[in-house]
Amino acid sequence: MALLSHDKVEKNSILMVVLVLVVVSIGGIVELVPLFFMESTIEKVKGMRPYSPLELAGRNIYLREGCYNCHSQMIRSLRDETERYGHYSLAAESMFDHPFQWGSKRTGPDLARVGGRYSDEWHVVHMIAPRSVVPESIMPGYPFLAETPAKLSDIANHLKANAIVGVPYTEAMIAAAETDAKAQADPDSDAAEAVEARYPKAQIRDFDGNPNMVSELDALIAYLQMLGTLVDFDVYQAEGDNLR
Ligand code: HEC
Repeated sequence: MALLSHDKVEKNSILMVVLVLVVVSIGGIVELVPLFFMESTIEKVKGMRPYSPLELAGRNIYLREGCYNCHSQMIRSLRDETERYGHYSLAAESMFDHPFQWGSKRTGPDLARVGGRYSDEWHVVHMIAPRSVVPESIMPGYPFLAETPAKLSDIANHLKANAIVGVPYTEAMIAAAETDAKAQADPDSDAAEAVEARYPKAQIRDFDGNPNMVSELDALIAYLQMLGTLVDFDVYQAEGDNLR
């Protein structure tokens, strides 16, 4: 009888281990093998595009200053999170992130959809002196960002490096990277239109309110203001959101 032979398995620990491994590996194979035959595990979503050069420069500052130590960029599909931050993050929304900025700690709020939530002026004041707008804030101030010119002479190389790991930057985008970066922070520039043509929904303004230079603060705010704004969730949901 089957029950009697189970006796052997329970009394022989080696046999038990072998059989457990067999069962577990079947589960693993069922989960893993389909992934090898899929072209991409990331569902394509309308609206996603690579970062504009100025946004990428801002993102580099975000990394350099270690903002990810206190901020996540990943809204989980849990009700308390979606009610506070908006639609849960899609894999496609970080497909051009190298490295991704999901983070693992939230000393401050999640920033995945902070774009458009505050005015540029709010960000300027908040980045220079957080406690002047949020009295109980424990975030450090970064006043030097407003006084430091953004280093844009090497931004083309950053685009190139991203292209090597699969971000679809074209030759034309790389060639125009430095001009595009400067033009995005200068709405009067003749090159501003080209930025929007290359990077749809790119916001073109003098982010830090100082027209005399493109500062690191310009770049950082350009980055913060675009976070989570590329995907139009009305369209996304109309086309079928499989988790609802
Ligand atoms: C020591 C932890 C810490 C670090 C480092 C830090 N922050 Fe914060 N941040 C906070 C906290 C706490 C808050 C909430 C209080 C406030 O608004 O100041 C916050 C709030 C924010 C907000 C407003 C978010 C919202 O939805 O209200 C932004 C934007 C922000 N931080 C950006 C940054 C950027 C950019 C950096 C890196 C240059 C950074 N933070 C570094 C702790 C931190």
